[in-house]
Amino acid sequence: AEFIAKASQLKIQLAETLKPVPPPGTYTFGDIKTDHMLVMSFDPANGWSAPEIKPYGPLAIDPSSNCLQYATNIFEGMKAFMGPSGKPQLFRPQANMARLSSSAARMALPPFDEDALLTCITKLVALESRWLPAESGHSLYIRPTMIGTKPTIKVGASDHALLYVIVTPVGPYFPTPPGESLHAQSVSLLAVSEHVRSWPGGTGGYKFGLNYSPGFVPQQAAAKLGYDQVLWLLDAGQGAGDLVTEAGAMNFAAVFEGADGALTVVTPPLDGTILPGITRDSALTLLRTPGALPSLSSTRITVEERVLPVAELSTAHAAGTLRECFGVGTAVNVVGIDRIGIASLRAGEGEGLKVKVVEDVSPSSGKGLGPVGRALWDMLLD
Ligand code: COI
Repeated sequence: AEFIAKASQLKIQLAETLKPVPPPGTYTFGDIKTDHMLVMSFDPANGWSAPEIKPYGPLAIDPSSNCLQYATNIFEGMKAFMGPSGKPQLFRPQANMARLSSSAARMALPPFDEDALLTCITKLVALESRWLPAESGHSLYIRPTMIGTKPTIKVGASDHALLYVIVTPVGPYFPTPPGESLHAQSVSLLAVSEHVRSWPGGTGGYKFGLNYSPGFVPQQAAAKLGYDQVLWLLDAGQGAGDLVTEAGAMNFAAVFEGADGALTVVTPPLDGTILPGITRDSALTLLRTPGALPSLSSTRITVEERVLPVAELSTAHAAGTLRECFGVGTAVNVVGIDRIGIASLRAGEGEGLKVKVVEDVSPSSGKGLGPVGRALWDMLLD
């Protein structure tokens, strides 16, 4: 109730000069920030402050802040697309608010009212609508962030916080070959088991900054070997060997063809090690809804949320039944996976990150999106 009351006192301080909006295609994902941001703060004496939309710029926080020392940083990724009326339309924003609440609770950061925050974000997006590119596949990427600002080095929950929202105009997350349609996007993955993204009882199911940064070293190592992203594996100790969890910063799905020509789309279950992606949820719902994907109307499709041993990808590849693999996420929408390097690395076998790729598994759809990924791309953007 306090948050709602404060949110209704939203103050707006407009930037004196507005930045030029660069044409789409001249910037890469996340580099350009719009003119304004939304900021509110929490402290135990005053509760939530009234939110403020103000010129985008640096935040002043104490160097001992809990977020700088102990990584109390949670965030969301959400998008606004150009709607048919020429106005920005947010994609499933209530789901992002719910996930941010869940992250705040797990990180012991203060709760907030989801609808009231969304109302403030909607006002920010409306104010920044001149930044929204109209090109297909382009959008405003919105990054709500909450950080713990308790000014003490003592280890413990942060009862001070900053909640802020920044906005960036974006096109495709991964570079698209010049002159090619956005369906042509695909990436290669190096399957890695020496480093894991998440584990049972860990925080992989929450949108925490600390789930991403430990992936930078393995990502750099994969890049040195010629792979774009990491396919995160986890041996959960249940005898199934290394299981696929996520790909880079995306959820992962593989499409297998059965003997009768029917397709099975498999993605790992939300068992706490997988980020509950909103695009993942939309994709699964579309795939499970008869007639929702017209280009696949004559294909029988079953969706399975179940553990996916990486060995199953190799076996299916050898048998010629691995039709396609793709990643889904807010930032990428859907991206094809054209190659997966599976390393021989197990504890003791490799040295550091010097992995030896023993096998390259390529889905038969080749470069770009296969038919399932393409159908999802089109319908999600529609
Ligand atoms: C997203 O898809 O929005 C993500 O969170 C991935 C990455 C940009 C952090």
